[in-house]
Amino acid sequence: MDKLNFINEELDRLKEAGLLINIRTIEGPQGAWITVDGKKVLNLSSNNYLGLANDSQSKTASHNAIDTYGVGPAAVRTIAGTTTLHKDLEQKLAQFKGAESTISFQSGFCANLAVIPAIVGKADVVFSDELNHASIIDGCRLAKTRVVRYKHGNPEDLQEKIHAEKDIERKLIITDGVFSMEGDIAPLPEIVEIAEKYNAITMVDDAHGEGVLGRGGRGIVDHFNLHGKVDIEVGTMSKAFGVVGGYIAGTKRLTDYLMQKGRPFLFSSAVTAADVAACIAVVKTLNKSDDLVKKLWSNTRFFQGRMKQLGFNIGMTKTPITPVMIGDAKVARDFSQKLFDVGIFAQSIGYPTVPVGKARIRVMLSATHSEKDLTWAIDHFENIGKSLGVI
Ligand SMILES: Cc1ncc(COP(=O)(O)O)c(C=O)c1O
Repeated sequence: MDKLNFINEELDRLKEAGLLINIRTIEGPQGAWITVDGKKVLNLSSNNYLGLANDSQSKTASHNAIDTYGVGPAAVRTIAGTTTLHKDLEQKLAQFKGAESTISFQSGFCANLAVIPAIVGKADVVFSDELNHASIIDGCRLAKTRVVRYKHGNPEDLQEKIHAEKDIERKLIITDGVFSMEGDIAPLPEIVEIAEKYNAITMVDDAHGEGVLGRGGRGIVDHFNLHGKVDIEVGTMSKAFGVVGGYIAGTKRLTDYLMQKGRPFLFSSAVTAADVAACIAVVKTLNKSDDLVKKLWSNTRFFQGRMKQLGFNIGMTKTPITPVMIGDAKVARDFSQKLFDVGIFAQSIGYPTVPVGKARIRVMLSATHSEKDLTWAIDHFENIGKSLGVI
């Protein structure tokens, strides 16, 4: 008997359900137009919000860092030491975010896996928005903590649920800042108010708020002017920063603690000098000008306004993440393939990333797009949408 036969069965099932992920191969750098599987296409799929993934200043900084520091960190920071470059990034990030301190990780995913088990355990309770990112869910699983899911973006439900657990000593409320599949923004001021009332710790994952929300892209805490009121901010440098890496921002007490307790920090090597140098260059770029952030938002208003006029349902987005709702996973895949055939790279997203029956095309807008690019894409969305009966 083939002991791994279940793998074939599961892959067949995914294919049958239209849920088998087809990973496209990209040749060359990120940008508005990229070459995918040998074809030049308009890129509406990446998290490269500000177009910095191929930024010349970031690249120069990376090249210089390789010359100075080499290509690899050679071990984890707590054992083999850390570079001045990593410390410099952490200081600059703290300044940028208006936080006392930051600690960097290999990715945003790692940052969540590091911080949640360090803060809560079996005796505690996490109150988690039902649409929180997988890395938050996995962080809670690793922490072996009890999780109470509250209704998406619903402070009343959170309040009810936390009230029922008010005698638990350590309570942690976790929310995505911007929800990665919906594009809506967490009601952070209300969450903070509830947390204060019930003495709960607050944590926001700002992966999609970084470079997008707040003054010059300083994120959701800046957007709501909640500096000093959110205990734990999670950031990623893989999206608007266009590089890779994650971090936690908060008090120095928190980051000192995570240096001792954050397991991905303790047991996995840091990101490379080239990555760190590029991230430092991005912080400098964002400190200098908010032009890219403004362009991102003008593209967002333009695209979303036209799509709504055409009758597309773009859900409850308030940010450049634009879910073009389709419903059926197979129709969504079909839509995405037809877009690709005409030269538009916009991926369909189905279960388990989004609930069953809520498949969509997830359009990611970027400062790199021109209005001409977007107008051209909208025309194709209209034609395909009509041919598939979506509009
Ligand atoms: C809300 C959220 N948190 C964390 C992550 C993980 O970030 P990274 O790609 O840096 O691991 C993502 C990326 O998809 C995300 O959307």
